Amino acid sequence: MPSVLVTRRLPSSVLSRLQSVADVDVHRGEGPIPADELRRRIADKAGLICFSTDAIDRTVLEAAPQLKVIANVAVGYDNIDVALARSRGAIVSNTPDVLTESVADFTWGLILAITRRLAEGERLVRRGEWKGWAFDLMLGSELRGKQLGLIGFGRIGRAVASRAPAFGMRVAYTARGGDVPVGTGDVPGEAMSLDRLLITSDVMSLHVPLTPDTRHLIDKRALARMKRSAFLINTARGPVIDEAALAWALQQHLIAGAALDVYENEPAVHPDLLSLENVLLVPHLASGTTETRSTMAELAIDNVIEVLAGRTPLTPVP
Ligand code: DGY
Repeated sequence: MPSVLVTRRLPSSVLSRLQSVADVDVHRGEGPIPADELRRRIADKAGLICFSTDAIDRTVLEAAPQLKVIANVAVGYDNIDVALARSRGAIVSNTPDVLTESVADFTWGLILAITRRLAEGERLVRRGEWKGWAFDLMLGSELRGKQLGLIGFGRIGRAVASRAPAFGMRVAYTARGGDVPVGTGDVPGEAMSLDRLLITSDVMSLHVPLTPDTRHLIDKRALARMKRSAFLINTARGPVIDEAALAWALQQHLIAGAALDVYENEPAVHPDLLSLENVLLVPHLASGTTETRSTMAELAIDNVIEVLAGRTPLTPVP
C-alpha cells in the first residue's frame, strides 16, 4: 500500500477511508509538524495531507522523491511551492467551495462585531467596569445604506456580497485583473478600481489569495485613502495587510476600526494591535465549524485517494 503523511490529527471517522487504501502516518503532536520532522517523515510517502500552517517548500519537496499528491486542507495554497511540486510530478489540490458559506457567515460576524463594538463591550463587562445603560454608551455604526467594498470577487467574495442586501448595504468590488468572474451576474455589485473602492467604501473586506501581487496590498498608502469612518475586515491571508501600517493607521484614527482573523506571522500578532480598542482580533477561525472542517478533511482525503488510484483529484489547484 502507498504511504500517506497527515500533518495534523483528523477525526478517526474521516481518516478511516484513507486507512483502507494507504498506510497512514499522522503527526499527533500539538501544533504544526516541525520542518525537520516533516522532511524526515515525508521521505517514503506517496501522499501528503497538509494545512496552511505547513510550508511545503523546496527543502520539503526535495526530501520527498516519491510524492504524487499534496492535498492542502485549505482553500488557500500560498504555503505550497506549486510550480516546483508540479515540476517534480506531484499534483496539488485544495478545498474550495466547501468552506465558502462558513467563511462568508464569519465575515459578516466580524463586520457586525467591529461596527457594533461587541468585543469592546464584552471586555468592559468582564472587567466589571460597566456602570449600566447609558444613552451614548459605545455607540456603533449603522450598516444600512452604506457601501461594502470587496477586494476579490471570487467564490467567497461573492458569498459575502450575497448577504449584503439583508443588511441594507450596497456592494462594490474590485476583481483580479479587472475580470468579471463567472457567476457575477447573480450577485449584486458594482465593479470599480481599487483606488475608488478604497475612497468610497464604508466597510472593506479582503477576499484575495496571497500572491506576490497581493502581499501588502493594504499598506500605509491604501489605508490613508480610506474614509476615517471606514472599517477593514480580513479573513483572507494576513500578509495582504501591512500589519505595522494598520497598527499605525488605527492609532492615528485614520480608519475607524479593523477586524482580523489572519495575521502576517501567525500566531504572532503585531504588538501594537494588542493594546488597541478599535481592532477585533480572532485566531484564524473563519472556516472553523465542525461541519465545514470535517467536509474539508473529507475532500482532501478524496483527492489523495483519487490520485493514488491514478485518477485526477476532485479539486486540483488551478
Ligand atoms: C483556508 O482554507 O485557506 C483557511 O484559511 C484555512 O487555512
